[in-house]
Amino acid sequence: MRMYDIIQKKRDGEQLSEQEIRFFIDGYTKGEIPDYQVSALLMAVFFQDMTEEERAALTSAMVDSGDKIDLSAISGIKVDKHSTGGVGDTTTLILAPLVASLGVPVAKMSGRGLGHTGGTIDKLEAIPGFHVEITSDEFINLVNKNKVAVVGQTGNLTPADKKLYSLRDVTATVNSIPLIASSIMSKKIASGADAIVLDVKTGAGAFMKELDEANELAAAMVSIGNRVGRNTMAVISDMSQPLGNAIGNALEVKEAIDTLKGEGPEDLTELCLTLGSQMVVLANKADSLEQAKEQLKANLTNGKALEKFKVFLESQGGDPSVADNPEIMPQASHKVELPALKSGIVSEMVADNIGTAAMMLGAGRATKESEIDLAVGIILHKKIGDHVSEGEPLLTIYANNEDISDVKEKLYASITVSDQPVEAPPLIYGTVTE
Ligand code: URA
Ligand code: CA
Repeated sequence: MRMYDIIQKKRDGEQLSEQEIRFFIDGYTKGEIPDYQVSALLMAVFFQDMTEEERAALTSAMVDSGDKIDLSAISGIKVDKHSTGGVGDTTTLILAPLVASLGVPVAKMSGRGLGHTGGTIDKLEAIPGFHVEITSDEFINLVNKNKVAVVGQTGNLTPADKKLYSLRDVTATVNSIPLIASSIMSKKIASGADAIVLDVKTGAGAFMKELDEANELAAAMVSIGNRVGRNTMAVISDMSQPLGNAIGNALEVKEAIDTLKGEGPEDLTELCLTLGSQMVVLANKADSLEQAKEQLKANLTNGKALEKFKVFLESQGGDPSVADNPEIMPQASHKVELPALKSGIVSEMVADNIGTAAMMLGAGRATKESEIDLAVGIILHKKIGDHVSEGEPLLTIYANNEDISDVKEKLYASITVSDQPVEAPPLIYGTVTE
């Protein structure tokens, strides 16, 4: 087999065989096929697309390029949730203990944040003592015992994806549905889940800004998951504005605790109930979505979800008293309100720009090496569709720096107040199943 022929075949719009896809992934991972040939193939895929069979074969080949996490020692159907990335997306912190409180095993492998999106591990590390450095045996034992544990990324997962992603980044081939879908799904599948609930974001703060692109990506990922034997479904949700009110690590933990007490922001609570009920049904722990949602709602108000959160924290060294005393987490030295410059209806709160403002405060990493400040961030007091009066605070900035004029400028540029009536965007646009 020759890479030249594979490139030519895709260039001419033909379908690659599974053997050809494996040849290119294996050869590239081993360093036997050069970047310039793979670049040419990626560009051909960008223009010619891939069939559902090709996408599934590409994903499987990437999964097989490295280690695979074996969760078979955990009893029950392991359901993972993946979000395509958002700002102030606190759902994992809530969903993990919430669905575990109904007996769904949650074996979560999480990462750190980069750029304007936050990472679950960073958020959890705002809790004194909490750590994710546990062995795989401890991880499996904890999930069997408590139904929930979070571990940092371990092993050499999908090295083919790492190489391809870096190459796509410099060859203008990131924005391709078959390449994005296989990249995301390969990592989820290598992480060992039996079933996957995807939260595909759409709107200004999302990777897929337009709804039809988000639908297309969701359908591509659902098809791959089901073809490789993992029960997969997707929810399309709004990321035109940040989710919930808190952006920043300790602030989002506090928001998660409020939500686990049944006192969280409406949009965040609703999205968690929607994603959570899909997870519960995929795990066979409820007969219908309605039943699952009722049970989840009950556990937010009867204390069971919060209790599960405390058990989870304590089992990984975290101080469970944070649930009653969130002030034991790092606190910012300055709280500064950002007043509205005129009266009207909030019409825009561009999520990724607000995420960037939080990063400028130190809540996120500009580069992989940056240190983050767990205390800082933003609490929104208004969301799209809300009325605001001149001088009323749009949000509060939590900072450890005296001079935050650049952050204020960025935030004012991200928020629009209109004279015209504006409706809040829908939170959920739909679901995609096979
Ligand atoms: N996220 C990924 O993991 N891969 C992509 O290709 C795009 C976004
Ligand atoms: Ca939030």
